Amino acid sequence: MKISLIGYMGSGKSTIGPELAVLSGLDYYDLDAEIEKHTGYTITETIFNKGELYFRKLEREKLHEILAKDNFVLSTGGGTPCYYDNIDVINKNSLSIYLQYNVKELFERLKGNTAERPLIAHLEGEPLQEYIGKHLFERSTYYDKATVVIKAGKLSNLEILKEIKNYTHE
Ligand code: S3P
Repeated sequence: MKISLIGYMGSGKSTIGPELAVLSGLDYYDLDAEIEKHTGYTITETIFNKGELYFRKLEREKLHEILAKDNFVLSTGGGTPCYYDNIDVINKNSLSIYLQYNVKELFERLKGNTAERPLIAHLEGEPLQEYIGKHLFERSTYYDKATVVIKAGKLSNLEILKEIKNYTHE
């Protein structure tokens, strides 16, 4: 089984992912962590020093590498499904699961928590919420292509895992 978690920044992909992998007896990959291992730099450093386009190319390369493996849970980055044909490649090679939250919920999860996120590190309060609103609207076209959509906003991590297991039971 191959599972890819997708969703906006702060949607808990990197928290749910490892737990799901353990519960399902699958390997775990975090796309950002794989990129960091490859470059030796943090994502923030890579985007700051080399630019976002360079980062997106690397992200795509690593995505293809991981999707070629078997038996894994992959936590993608928030932007991964929204570049190139990544969402189609994800859907073709794995069961994609979108952890969906509304703007207000994402704002609550992200506020005070932006330092390590280069796209929003400079934002807080009202401007942060406005940015999330616009950005989520743009990205939803891609996220909505996921095979499974979990409305995660009112669920605990355990409930999210239980819901995912309903779709991954083999
Ligand atoms: C990004 C999300 C980040 C990381 C990079 C870009 C995005 O991952 O890949 O900063 O474009 O939304 P998380 O969703 O794990 O924060």
